[in-house]
Amino acid sequence: MAKRRVLTGVQSSGTLHIGNYFGAMRPCIEAQKDESSDRFYFIANFHALTQLPEPALLRQRIWDVAVDFIACGIDPEKTVFFRQSDVPQVQELAWMLSCLTPMGLLERCHSYKDKLAHGQEANHGLFAYPVLMAADILLYDSTHVPVGKDQKQHLEVTRDIAIRFNNRYGETFVVPEPIISEDVAVIPGIDGQKMSKSYGNAIEIFGEGKAIRSRFMKIVTDSTPMEAPKNPDTCNIFKLFKLMATPEEQEELRARYLAGGMGYGHAKQALYEKYIEYFAPMRERRKQLLENPQGVEDNLQYGAERARKVAQATLTRARIAVGLE
Ligand code: TRP
Repeated sequence: MAKRRVLTGVQSSGTLHIGNYFGAMRPCIEAQKDESSDRFYFIANFHALTQLPEPALLRQRIWDVAVDFIACGIDPEKTVFFRQSDVPQVQELAWMLSCLTPMGLLERCHSYKDKLAHGQEANHGLFAYPVLMAADILLYDSTHVPVGKDQKQHLEVTRDIAIRFNNRYGETFVVPEPIISEDVAVIPGIDGQKMSKSYGNAIEIFGEGKAIRSRFMKIVTDSTPMEAPKNPDTCNIFKLFKLMATPEEQEELRARYLAGGMGYGHAKQALYEKYIEYFAPMRERRKQLLENPQGVEDNLQYGAERARKVAQATLTRARIAVGLE
């Protein structure tokens, strides 16, 4: 059987929070142990351009994502980790795919319509976003693409385009399978809603000092009095604690909830200490990376080199198939 190739594009939308870490990054990092697959992860900076961020901001965000991913455990040897824009082949492929993509297919995309509804300008890049995403996926012969529910339709567009291409020009692309993470436990933010940067309820991965401690102290709880027993399973503090603690530590805190006599303030403090401890090695590693930016850049260049090799082979296949070569 051919090796599985898992590909994912990472949005560079700013400081990562622990919801991103436990929801998206940790599974990616753990997947590096799987020897029956290889992995291509890239920072989707061409896609970020559809939102016209300030140049300095875009540059900073791309950099932050790269540093944070490596600090958290993406290993550039085990994962081909690169910036989308370091592989220009993707643009040429996107054009070929564009010419096969019916307008109607893109007009139906929810994500495009949502962005317009939220006041974004209807530029052509935004409209063509799913075609570039299809090019990302097909260029690397990806077999599996883990995506959230919001990206499911884009995966269907990719499959549709790949099948059209293969029908018209002969077998050229691998038709990828989505891996939809339906049942990832919702990670609560400090107000108990799903943690999201746009809700203002997030806890950063690399927060420091009083500011971050006070985020923990603001976590919303019910008003069970100090002396009374408490239910850990409905408590936002405990839900977050479970993500970071060993089974024994979880049992210990659970028992304190059930016994009564522990205030939520104590649980918050326990969670805060756990958080500091859990992310300490990554924080340390991040410091080292920031002291040697060239090392990060070298890692990205190394990833780009490996990515371009695969990309060029696929692109040549496509150029021959359509008659450009
Ligand atoms: N559109 C994806 C998102 O918003 C990011 C992305 C770009 C992507 N290209 C991709 C994801 C290719 C998977 C595969 O999250």
